[in-house]
Amino acid sequence: MTTLTSLLVPHAERLLATPTLRLFTDDPARLPDFSLDAAGLHLDYAKQRLDRPARAALLALAEARQLRSRIEDLFRGALVNPTEHRPALHTALRNPDDPSACVDGQAVGPLVAATLQRMDQLVDAIANGQSRGASGEAITDVVNLGIGGSHLGPQLVCDALRDLHTRRPRVHFVSNVDGGDIDRCLSTLVPARTLFIVASKSFTTPETALNARTAEAWIRQALPGPDAIARHFLAISANPARAVAFGIAADNVLPMWDWVGGRYSLWSAIGLPIALAVGSAAFRDLLAGARAMDQHFRDSPLAANMPVLLALIGLWNSDALGAETQALVPYDERLTLFPPWLQQLEMESNGKRITLDNQPVSGHTAPVVWGGVGTNVQHAFFQLLHQGTRRIPVDFILPLSHPRSPPAHHDMLVANCLAQAEALMVGRSRAASLADNPDPTLALHREQPGNQPSSLLSMTALTPQTLGALLALYEHKTFVQGVLWNINSFDQWGVELGKQLAATLLAEMAAGAASRAHDASTRDLLQRYLAARGG
Ligand code: F6P
Repeated sequence: MTTLTSLLVPHAERLLATPTLRLFTDDPARLPDFSLDAAGLHLDYAKQRLDRPARAALLALAEARQLRSRIEDLFRGALVNPTEHRPALHTALRNPDDPSACVDGQAVGPLVAATLQRMDQLVDAIANGQSRGASGEAITDVVNLGIGGSHLGPQLVCDALRDLHTRRPRVHFVSNVDGGDIDRCLSTLVPARTLFIVASKSFTTPETALNARTAEAWIRQALPGPDAIARHFLAISANPARAVAFGIAADNVLPMWDWVGGRYSLWSAIGLPIALAVGSAAFRDLLAGARAMDQHFRDSPLAANMPVLLALIGLWNSDALGAETQALVPYDERLTLFPPWLQQLEMESNGKRITLDNQPVSGHTAPVVWGGVGTNVQHAFFQLLHQGTRRIPVDFILPLSHPRSPPAHHDMLVANCLAQAEALMVGRSRAASLADNPDPTLALHREQPGNQPSSLLSMTALTPQTLGALLALYEHKTFVQGVLWNINSFDQWGVELGKQLAATLLAEMAAGAASRAHDASTRDLLQRYLAARGG
């Protein structure tokens, strides 16, 4: 197989010697050719250090990796996760009518549709006050206990769609095993009116299990009757037997499936907190937006395919131009939780070092994904983007309207977003600095190199549909990059070792003694903890 480097190096050398602004002057049709629309989103990637020949080389690479047929494999339920012998059919969750989405020859659509109906019933029962706790009071608050994929997506969507929240219930999230997290949440709630959702695909995640036990004790203390747990706990899991063994009534367990990856699961019953917060209709609109992006991804030619282009741009920046990180800057407070969601999606999916052919990868895989919300981050890390020594590509995300932001605020927000993207590209020359201020020493410090690559994704409004499309866009971008790097984007074996070692350390804490099997540093730290804890 052709190596990435051999294909892309000549293009990278040419473009690193070309100011991005010159790409605009040399090519009057650059903007229409380096932008596209899909599923309510507009992607402008004209400020990337990319030209037509380089893009053609990237597209040839995608063809060489047989991307088209790999996309079809994803949608049809092929075993795209070979180390766990599973498909990854999150697309079926937003299109239960697709008969081609099959596992072991069986269409999965009917399972998805039935689960959506159960979710609708639960949402209705809670919203209209029919769902009552053990003492007969209506449920007013729902707490999602889950972590990683069983938390980040649902919390992001609930936060992003805050303007659509219904009157009942209020939805809360507890993920961290830090007891301060659940304490902060429970201290504001009344047990008789609180319902817990234990969200765990595996139902083996220790943090979620401990939070669930703490919640159970909180309920039992206030409501000692026999049906307290049945009335105050639901579970969502692909392992219903473990949920039932935990004590949750079998009727209160909503299904998840092995063929949905945890970090791709907000579209399943794991999204119940979303449906509770914004209503079933808005949840279906979210699914519809994702489905529109799915259709675009499945049907569009690679050269006009938004997820494919976003993936190729990322690969270009990292593999050809040497960027080690990727910044993500939404200009909208409602998308504050987008960067942490994307961190799990991209870094857990593509932070891999062995190929699908069981060989070490030849270069880097996923970049470090990080970011924050504009304009706040302009006053935090943007200095480094403008004048630091590293090349850091930025994805700007910009809803063009905001239902609650007065025009003076929104104008200023948008002006700042556009200004930052422009400043990163055009920079400021020594001469321009001197024209402002003749001090030559100061001019040295004021000079900005420019040519920092960015893309800007905009949408007319942030709605359930456009949000669904945005999340699906990045899911597919992640998948395409996995194909390009020839890695499995759907397993996460690297997280196992830390979990095992934590279990060993917990056992030693219970025994009050540090084992000699640890290295000196770990043993010393454990002993310090035992001394501080007093045992
Ligand atoms: O530790 C990683 C991980 O397995 C993620 O992939 C997953 O989203 C998270 O833990 C939570 O897993 P579960 O839903 O099984 O509790």
